[in-house]
Amino acid sequence: MAQSAVRFDQVRKNYGHQAVLQGVDLDIAAGTSFGLVGINGAGKTTLIKCLLDFCHVDSGRIEIFGTRHSESHARARLAFLPERFMPPYFLTGRDFLGYMLARDDRAASEDRVRAMFAALDLDAAALDKPVRSYSKGMTQKLGLAACLLAESELLILDEPMSGLDPLARARVKQLLRQLREQGRTLFFTSHALSDVEEICEYMVVLHQGRLRFSGSPQALMQDYARDSMEPAFLQCIGSDADG
Ligand SMILES: Nc1ncnc2c1ncn2[C@@H]1O[C@H](COP(=O)(O)OP(=O)(O)OP(=O)(O)O)[C@@H](O)[C@H]1O
Ligand SMILES: [Mg+2]
Repeated sequence: MAQSAVRFDQVRKNYGHQAVLQGVDLDIAAGTSFGLVGINGAGKTTLIKCLLDFCHVDSGRIEIFGTRHSESHARARLAFLPERFMPPYFLTGRDFLGYMLARDDRAASEDRVRAMFAALDLDAAALDKPVRSYSKGMTQKLGLAACLLAESELLILDEPMSGLDPLARARVKQLLRQLREQGRTLFFTSHALSDVEEICEYMVVLHQGRLRFSGSPQALMQDYARDSMEPAFLQCIGSDADG
């Protein structure tokens, strides 16, 4: 059986009196494309913050490639794109990429950087412009470029398609599929259920602190006897918006 890339065992996280994660169990095998789905405020970003040890966990255990998440070297094998990606505004795109890669003892040749920009439909001229002059979508693409150039075994992307135009979304999906073919582990959140269906072999639905569903996108539709993701998801969370 494949090694676990990410494992949660009965993880609980409260903010004050609010129980955001109420005993979450998760086991994502290395090489899996995994999608974390849930409505606004469901706790997706909180779950990622717990995974990255950005916040305290009330109880339970989290492991990354078999190492406890609170050990700093547990995070050495991953790249992370936050949901609100804000690079230092005074850096150029090139400086930012250089800084991010150097932090992980990595580097990327000019050719690789330009190829990545082209793959993301980002004009190479932006490399020498300060990040403050980037549009929202350009900034998001820069963050994705930094994650993808790092060539980490595990990518954690919180709403990677946010702010991207349809062409860029198609390009990013293509890049994510390539990662999967290379055997890397992809962990992402998305509100675009069709993206999850296209990219992921494994997904969970987080709702009211618990995992309401765990399995493939096809199994979600089968379980609720629906032929598309949105009604299956709505039924899964017991929404009366489901027609
Ligand atoms: N630092 C914090 N302090 C207090 N409450 C918080 C904090 N961060 C998140 N929360 C609360 O935890 C809940 C889950 O928030 P979270 O950001 O994890 O949701 P999400 O699923 O990522 O939502 P979205 O789809 O909007 O990004 C929300 O009710 C939110 O208000
Ligand atoms: Mg979020």
